[in-house]
Amino acid sequence: MTGGDQPILVTGGAGFIGSNLVDRLAGEGHRVIAYDALSRPGVAGNLEWLQSRHGDRIEPIVADIRDEARLADAAVRAGAVFHLAGQVAVTTSLVDPRDDFSVNILGTLHLLDALRTRNPEAPLIFASTNKVYGDLADLDFERDGDRYVPSDAAIRAHGIGEGRPLDFHTPYGCSKGAADQYVLDYARSYGLRTAVLRMSCIYGQRQMGTEDQGWVAHFLIRALEGKPITLYGDGCQMRDILDVADAVDAYLAAWHAIDRVSGRAFNLGGGADNAVSLRQLLAHIGDLLGRGIDVTFEDWRAGDQRYFVADTRAAQAALGLGARREWRDGVARLARWLADARGLAIAAPREAAA
Ligand SMILES: NC(=O)c1ccc[n+]([C@@H]2O[C@H](COP(=O)([O-])OP(=O)(O)OC[C@H]3O[C@@H](n4cnc5c(N)ncnc54)[C@H](O)[C@@H]3O)[C@@H](O)[C@H]2O)c1
Repeated sequence: MTGGDQPILVTGGAGFIGSNLVDRLAGEGHRVIAYDALSRPGVAGNLEWLQSRHGDRIEPIVADIRDEARLADAAVRAGAVFHLAGQVAVTTSLVDPRDDFSVNILGTLHLLDALRTRNPEAPLIFASTNKVYGDLADLDFERDGDRYVPSDAAIRAHGIGEGRPLDFHTPYGCSKGAADQYVLDYARSYGLRTAVLRMSCIYGQRQMGTEDQGWVAHFLIRALEGKPITLYGDGCQMRDILDVADAVDAYLAAWHAIDRVSGRAFNLGGGADNAVSLRQLLAHIGDLLGRGIDVTFEDWRAGDQRYFVADTRAAQAALGLGARREWRDGVARLARWLADARGLAIAAPREAAA
């Protein structure tokens, strides 16, 4: 591991996962460069929150990942890099694939090349996605009540592993997948110290969830505001969801273990224990709020998987990750945080302190 007196660079440091990661790093005493264009609505508030908590330990750089000179200036000073800035929504990528390409692929290449030419010792951990595995259309699924389950018993027990062939769907899948492969290849071709975390759905505090991305927070926000929720497809699609604190643990563990895990990609999600269908999540939210949720249905969206649950055994073993927060508890915590931020009262029990 490197770091020492050098600051840690977190691109997308004002975003949902980025701000939680920056908070943890600064809390551990690191100086952190939070590099973010603040293009996602609401994330400027995350940056203010970080600065109010950590003062001078946070060095904000409000700039685009495509600003090569400013990015390189930050990258060459860094003891380690966490690359989370990105165009994050499948829907947006379909509307403007060129912008998605330039942010996710070119932005990542600028960063890798700055490290290759001027700071090759700095580890880099990249935020990839389970979308690199495509829609899993070759697998058989059965409807089991209000969820889909895989027919294959091994997948049902453990989820989808890293051995699954890559199959990029949608411009977002292509751009994140290409960036994922560049990050791994810069370890192979140039000896950079890089690792990739292919994430399932991450949820938690500081998430500005919208219909396009961040669906757990989005469902909660709509339900808290008494607004209807649109389900695309039948709502039986299954996802493994992971609390952001557990995701941050994995990012830090990948950094600390970089000498062992360089050049590897890991699936990171809630795993089979935290697999839930959209309908199950809505039922839980209804229980938390003590009222029914108004739901409408629309057609499936492009690239939507009927099922994705990460097989997290490789990440657990290689990164030494501990127990994950149980999803019902994590969602209750997020409901409380969102309600408090809106000055709303909800009946959800106060969960144990973190
Ligand atoms: N949240 C999830 O469930 C999830 C799942 C899989 C992968 N990911 C990946 O994890 C990363 C972080 O996701 P998140 O949920 O925190 O999203 P987020 O939108 O909250 O964070 C992304 C941040 O990047 C910034 N950004 C966007 N375009 C930029 C640009 N051109 N230059 C500089 N900054 C820019 C945004 O302002 C935002 O603060 C993303 O790369 C995303 O693709 C997230």
